[in-house]
Amino acid sequence: MSLISPQVSAFDTRVTAYLQRLERTMDAVLPAASTDPARLHEAIRYACEGGKHLRALMVYAAGETLAVAPEKLDAAACAVELIHAYSLVHDDLPGMDNDDLRRGRPTVHKAYDEATAILVGDALQTSAFEALATTNALDAEQKVRMITALAHASGSLGMVGGQAVDMASENLTLTLAQLESLHARKTGALILVTCQLAAIAANASETVRNALDRYGRCIGLAFQIQDDVLDQIADTATLGKTAGKDLAQHKSTFPSLLGLEQAQQRANDLFDEARDAARSISGNADPLLWLADHIQQRKH
Ligand code: IPE
Ligand code: IPE
Ligand code: MG
Ligand code: MG
Ligand code: MG
Repeated sequence: MSLISPQVSAFDTRVTAYLQRLERTMDAVLPAASTDPARLHEAIRYACEGGKHLRALMVYAAGETLAVAPEKLDAAACAVELIHAYSLVHDDLPGMDNDDLRRGRPTVHKAYDEATAILVGDALQTSAFEALATTNALDAEQKVRMITALAHASGSLGMVGGQAVDMASENLTLTLAQLESLHARKTGALILVTCQLAAIAANASETVRNALDRYGRCIGLAFQIQDDVLDQIADTATLGKTAGKDLAQHKSTFPSLLGLEQAQQRANDLFDEARDAARSISGNADPLLWLADHIQQRKH
């Protein structure tokens, strides 16, 4: 007798395999903790530990849907997680959200110091692009296209721009359209790019790229709405980061604008739309469908 539905266990097996690949790649890309300057390299590895690694899972799942060999996805999955880890280290700094807890342990500037946290972020960012530039699994054109897409998603027109607007919007009440635009940049861009990186690895057609983009945009916005909702309803121990920060820092969030129930409904509608987009892709949509379920059910 099996109590686990075949679909769940098939997805769990995939997640384990994807995460093993990610761990191997990260371990190869990042200098050993003992490398001089050891305090910096130890802190870099500390910043990459823990976490759900959802962005890497998205690269692998989208790639699997497009029948891409996993080795062509390793550098992209690793690069996007390195950029994400850097964004969290800087997001937690006293000059930004001033958080003491991340992934259930002290933030990098608490465990080390502020200067180290800034440098960890700097180094993670350059390591991400080095991972893409030096992989042997992709051709030169694919590498340049991936580097361009990731740079665009991470920079002032993407994540960094979103972070700037997020900081500038504290104590203001944004309109829903302004908040969606903020979320699309600060969180959505890095989630959307996971689909774009997989599409580049697959040399996908425009039709496929558009459908995957729709999936990525929906998941990206739904993800940040969930983050806002969880900040309000979950406890610090479950989240692994301080709960209730958004209200304390007077951030505009989906629950603050729409109320909790409507915010949750909006996220659920977006997950449904993401699943529609996944089903419209010619290929095996299952990995993307399972991933949408997996993210929708997250508690932290
Ligand atoms: C948290 O992202 C920051 C946001 C972009 C909302 P995750 O919830 O993916 O963080 P980890 O990597 O699992 O810790
Ligand atoms: C952070 O958003 C997004 C980025 C790091 C780009 P939040 O500030 O809401 O993330 P948490 O809640 O601290 O993880
Ligand atoms: Mg923030
Ligand atoms: Mg924060
Ligand atoms: Mg948050």
